[in-house]
Amino acid sequence: MSTTAVRLVSESAMPAGVRVSQLQPALGSTISGFRFDGRPLDEAFRAGLRDLLHNRGLVIFEPGTVTAENFTAFAGFLGEFFHYAGPHTPRAPENPDATMIDSLKDKNLRNHIWHADGGFRPDAPAFTALFAQQLPESGGDTIFSNTAWVYEHLDPLFAAYLESLTVIQSADATGHITDRYLDPEEATKARVRMPPFEMPLVRVHPETGRKWIAVNESYVAYIKGASRIVSQNILGILFDMIKSPEATARYSWTRGALAIWDNRVVQHKGIKDYGGGRRILYRATMTA
Ligand code: SIN
Repeated sequence: MSTTAVRLVSESAMPAGVRVSQLQPALGSTISGFRFDGRPLDEAFRAGLRDLLHNRGLVIFEPGTVTAENFTAFAGFLGEFFHYAGPHTPRAPENPDATMIDSLKDKNLRNHIWHADGGFRPDAPAFTALFAQQLPESGGDTIFSNTAWVYEHLDPLFAAYLESLTVIQSADATGHITDRYLDPEEATKARVRMPPFEMPLVRVHPETGRKWIAVNESYVAYIKGASRIVSQNILGILFDMIKSPEATARYSWTRGALAIWDNRVVQHKGIKDYGGGRRILYRATMTA
């Protein structure tokens, strides 16, 4: 992990003793030297954190910053909690605002495919917070990609073409419903609750004005009006760029660390390389 110190606008808003460093060039900052004691955050600090999240996409807080019980109270400065606990992501026992990503449920989870959290809904959450509760002996990192960086590194003519396109997103694009709701009646109800919907392929961030590529491997089914071959190939180019080392930052968890990211622009996947040992991450998602 790169720990090169970087000066950001938001750094001046950090309380004394709080340090910000860069995780990778395309995205990510780490924050150390802060302990959340449950009291409301100072307004300048909140604004600085928001600014950092909008501009760097991902912020990692060192272990000890928060606890399993209070990380949601800390992350709550970002917006309202947005609950979408499903059959394989139950509520965390110590924290009613968090759900559990537990490796015991890996067979049914989609966290190992590139995605934006809740990307099967048109009103997907704006922010995600993930707290490392239990980790395998090795492996189980999370990798993140900055899709605004991807947009900004496209050939301008290709970028202009992409701006004319619409994608169809679907909860069942990679079997999210089929694999999880094994009772056919439950599956039918889930399809009614989560119908496919259209979105522009390129979107604009409401705070930074940066454009980003809104396609992910889990929930984007196809490009509207394009033939299967054109749709698959264009999406394939974009998926490859999103996964490229230049656009990504990989984080190796330490127990008790907290990651918060802008879930609109940054997509992610858990790396399923751990043989033994249980991996439990607590997750909370927020509206803007
Ligand atoms: C998630 O999809 O929010 C969890 C990612 C992970 O398992 O690393």
